[in-house]
Amino acid sequence: MTRWLTWPAGVGDEAALIRLEAESFGARSWGENSLDASFQTPGVAVLFAGASKTSPVGFAIWRDLTSEAELLSIGVLPNVRKRALGAALLGAVRAAARKAGAKKLFLEVDAGNTAALALYQRNGFVEIGRRRAYYRDGADALAMQVQL
Ligand SMILES: CC(C)(COP(=O)(O)OP(=O)(O)OC[C@H]1O[C@@H](n2cnc3c(N)ncnc32)[C@H](O)[C@@H]1OP(=O)(O)O)[C@@H](O)C(=O)NCCC(=O)NCCS
Repeated sequence: MTRWLTWPAGVGDEAALIRLEAESFGARSWGENSLDASFQTPGVAVLFAGASKTSPVGFAIWRDLTSEAELLSIGVLPNVRKRALGAALLGAVRAAARKAGAKKLFLEVDAGNTAALALYQRNGFVEIGRRRAYYRDGADALAMQVQL
């Protein structure tokens, strides 16, 4: 089993993030402009993951809101899915948020996103609310949270 590394993305990593996000999300990608804007939002941090720091194959974007934190996006390239990379990224976000003083980590997820729901449920997230027809295609959003 591959031992995944996780590390903070930094200045100069924007292009790699845009590529990883586009390949992970396909038609549901945020797009370059939103990603650039989030990179520059105070409190937003990006983590990369992979077998080596020269080739990230997954990413997570989270926001430090002082006593709370929010997972804004997480993605893994299709050819390395179901190999615990998402779980490694989530663990790294949880550790970083805890270190920053957050007591809870929140997220919103498409209620039909089986893979993401499996990842979150297996890592301790519980549903705390549902927004009906939240997404453009009419899908519900689930709000989830885990204590840190
Ligand atoms: C969601 C995503 C990040 C999961 O990444 P991953 O590296 O495949 O996840 P992991 O291998 O760490 O899986 C974590 C758990 O979820 C389960 N899981 C993952 N994908 C699954 C799927 N398609 N169906 C059922 N269970 C799944 C795994 O079996 C694992 O459970 P286990 O710990 O009991 O073995 C990945 O599928 C992805 O990038 N999807 C597209 C982008 C996306 O939808 N992001 C989330 C919304 S913001």
